[in-house]
Amino acid sequence: MCGIVGYIGKQKASAIILEGLKRLEYRGYDSAGVATQQGDHFDLAKKIGRVEGLIKTTPALKLPGTTGIGHTRWATHGGVTDANAHPHISSDQKFAIIHNGVVENYASIKKFLLTKGYTFKSETDTEVLCNLIAYHYQKEPATKEGSRFLESVRKTLRHIEGTYGIAVMCADNPAEIVAARKGSPLILGVGDGELMLASDVSAIISRTQNVVYLKDGEIVHMTAQNFSITTLDSSDVSPVIDKITWNIEDSEVGAFDHFMEKEIFEQPAALENTMRGRFSEDGSTAQFGGLNITAIDFRQVDRFHFIACGSAWHACLVAEQLIERFARVPVEVDYASEFRYRNIPLSKNALFFTISQSGETIDTLAAMREAKRKGYKVLAISNVVGSSIAREADGGVYQHVGPEIGVASTKAFTSQLLVGAMLALYIGRMRDMSFSGGIEYVKALKGAPDLVRETLKLAPQLKEIAKRYAHYKDMLFLGRLTLFPVALEGALKLKEISYIHAEGYPAAEMKHGPIALISEECPSVFFVPSGEMFNKVVSSMQEIKARKGKIIAIATQNCELPSGLVDELIRIPECHEAVLPIVASIPVQLLSYYMAVELKRDVDKPRNLAKSVTVE
Ligand code: G6P
Repeated sequence: MCGIVGYIGKQKASAIILEGLKRLEYRGYDSAGVATQQGDHFDLAKKIGRVEGLIKTTPALKLPGTTGIGHTRWATHGGVTDANAHPHISSDQKFAIIHNGVVENYASIKKFLLTKGYTFKSETDTEVLCNLIAYHYQKEPATKEGSRFLESVRKTLRHIEGTYGIAVMCADNPAEIVAARKGSPLILGVGDGELMLASDVSAIISRTQNVVYLKDGEIVHMTAQNFSITTLDSSDVSPVIDKITWNIEDSEVGAFDHFMEKEIFEQPAALENTMRGRFSEDGSTAQFGGLNITAIDFRQVDRFHFIACGSAWHACLVAEQLIERFARVPVEVDYASEFRYRNIPLSKNALFFTISQSGETIDTLAAMREAKRKGYKVLAISNVVGSSIAREADGGVYQHVGPEIGVASTKAFTSQLLVGAMLALYIGRMRDMSFSGGIEYVKALKGAPDLVRETLKLAPQLKEIAKRYAHYKDMLFLGRLTLFPVALEGALKLKEISYIHAEGYPAAEMKHGPIALISEECPSVFFVPSGEMFNKVVSSMQEIKARKGKIIAIATQNCELPSGLVDELIRIPECHEAVLPIVASIPVQLLSYYMAVELKRDVDKPRNLAKSVTVE
């Protein structure tokens, strides 16, 4: 939610920042802006719309400095206007700032600053932050050389309630940036004779692979030659420089039309990467290097709690069923945003898992902190190494699927399903699952990438179906057991990127409400697995058919469907029940993708959404 970039070096900052902003646009794309500094003067360009629009209307000459900051916005305080776009400049022209997060006590601070003569051009909380820095700067004695700028930011942040990732330039201190974070991600890139700042590594990977993941409450003071990190209470921090393991191609769209398409087709490899090195030598169970919890402690757990948002929450619902089925331990799943406020009674030996692709979703982070505050261990399943959730967790599992740029999650989602399935195996083998049961389960998981490869061959068929169905205004997605969360995910994918209203429901529950929507104008997507649920699902389909509803069936190979029952038949391979949700996700991803393309939607940047939601 909002992307920020900063640069100090010998190159023209604006070109590097704009390039970085393009890579961060998935975080928000309501407006974009850049400010560079030359001597004691800021040059500023900002406007509503995409980064590309800003580039087109901003001649390079307008932003000549070699120090600069840039921002791509997902609006919180104040509408989508040029004036509300970042960077913001203090009314005394001393400071320029970019900000990701929310200043909760901005109203009282604004009131105070107005009495001190500061003026405001925007409705944002960020401009309040900027003027408060200016206020403290005026009051700060110019004692120690160079520290007045840093200290006024530090003082300001001590008064701020809420979250922030900020980068600030000061007119009196050319070639310096002060940046800080609390609750919003911020990474320092250490390049060759240059330093960068960004909300995530994709913005800086083309210039350096050496990064410092800043922690909450840390402030970095950057000059062209050096940087130092301190805390809000002025303690020194020794920086740890990490190396990013992926490269620039991973964050480029390549031969595909959209990141979402690329990421759908990357899934076989992504699943292989998630599994790599994670099965025991005898092939009968899973193993995880980073759980930081002994098998004995794991054995004591009497209830697992899974917490997440969005697609990751759907992955939790599948994990719940697999763990309960194969490991026979009760599992609770909560939306992170609800968990914090429900204050549910927790058993003594509960263990928490959070699932978060980005590792930065603020609701998930806050729920995790709440569980930890109550004395529980929290393990994180996350894709982004060094993310806040991964760092604050007691242990966890990295997904290793590479950067996911498309706002609608695809490869990260199926990888989360896989991690959930592996956990069910791991916990199951500690309890009642037999050695041979484990061998069979591992074999099935290892076969998942090939089954997904095979399923991806359905793309041309789904493209054709998408053309026939893209004009509908409503759609239902119906499935049972582990395919119910996949139905929820299918509906979410469709509404996110095509803006067609869609609902996911348990197939049999459909008759208690959603059936009222059924007519020739509201088609249903049914998941039809062979086995014990087959006849039940067919009955539900009959009920839809009797009301003239069109049916798209995603059925496993062995299902023999009554003739004339379905309008479209998509065949997926038969597979183990731990793998079925993964394979069944592929057709709905492709269907929603092609429907959105058919409707000429902005697939990778759907309206109003952002990839990583770092505000509550
Ligand atoms: C946003 C994204 C979703 C994602 C959710 C949780 O809403 O648009 O695709 O599932 O956040 O994100 P996380 O990074 O925590 O998995």
